[in-house]
Amino acid sequence: LSGEYFRYKGVPFPVGIYSPESVRIAENADVQDDDVFIVTYPKSGTTWMIEIVSLILKDGDPSWIRSVPIWERAPWCETIMGAFSLPGQSSPRVMSSHLPIQLFPKDFFNSKAKVIYMARNPRDVVVSLYHYSKIAVQLKDPGTPDQFLQNFVKGEVQFGSWFDHIKGWIRMQGKENFLFITYEELQQDLRGSVERICQFLGRPLGEEELASVVAHSTFGAMKANIMSNYTLLPPTVLDQRHGAFLRKGVCGDWKNHFTVAQSEDFDRVYREQMRGLQTFPWD
Ligand code: PPS
Repeated sequence: LSGEYFRYKGVPFPVGIYSPESVRIAENADVQDDDVFIVTYPKSGTTWMIEIVSLILKDGDPSWIRSVPIWERAPWCETIMGAFSLPGQSSPRVMSSHLPIQLFPKDFFNSKAKVIYMARNPRDVVVSLYHYSKIAVQLKDPGTPDQFLQNFVKGEVQFGSWFDHIKGWIRMQGKENFLFITYEELQQDLRGSVERICQFLGRPLGEEELASVVAHSTFGAMKANIMSNYTLLPPTVLDQRHGAFLRKGVCGDWKNHFTVAQSEDFDRVYREQMRGLQTFPWD
């Protein structure tokens, strides 16, 4: 079944990890006021944000990130494993989701639970997703870079259109329980970004604790942490023999991949899709 997708309300999901029932369960799940959700379009820095939030919740103490796999610290809402049905989660629950806003647990919108929405330059997202599609067994073979870019632009990839995803979620900006932050901001100022996240979560940290969060959430530190680099997954799920999950961890790698024509075509679609919206760090 690997590489097959089903559609749920029009959005493509890989078979095996997700099912129509698992997405429906997430949509209708009970949300608690102290829940913290990390929401992203795939390849936008989910893993990075989970590491940061895990560290903040433990006041910078790295014992948790060193002893518990990342998918147990912030389980996925919409997978068959299903965060909402896991027993014995500590409070506050931290959960991850790639769901577009229209499929997100409805209960959230009447709760005080918090969403951290992390976005990334779609050009870097598509490059990261292209490489990931070659090692993640549940995903379709990406084909040529050009075919993949066209599919991405059309939203013919898992979780659908990047444009729809971000346009849906940024409508939440200004709400007290919603933080919009970008991969690029974290790259530019990790410490300042961590402080912003601490403030949003109502978890101020002292100097030393803050320094520890920053030190343990760098690309190098995460790559060396087997609880966070996904090497605990078997190659039948994620085949890291030919490429790493924590691949490059930089901004602007798209410039090494896009041709001039691809870049111009993408810019045209981007301008049309994002017309009238705010500017982002990648603009
Ligand atoms: S997933 O599969 O959707 O959960 O992937 P996600 O974690 O959202 O995104 C993976 C990309 O994020 C990069 N990454 C980091 N970059 C910088 N610093 C840190 N600490 C970090 N952790 C993860 C990861 O390398 C993937 O990007 P690429 O461009 O492929 O390297």
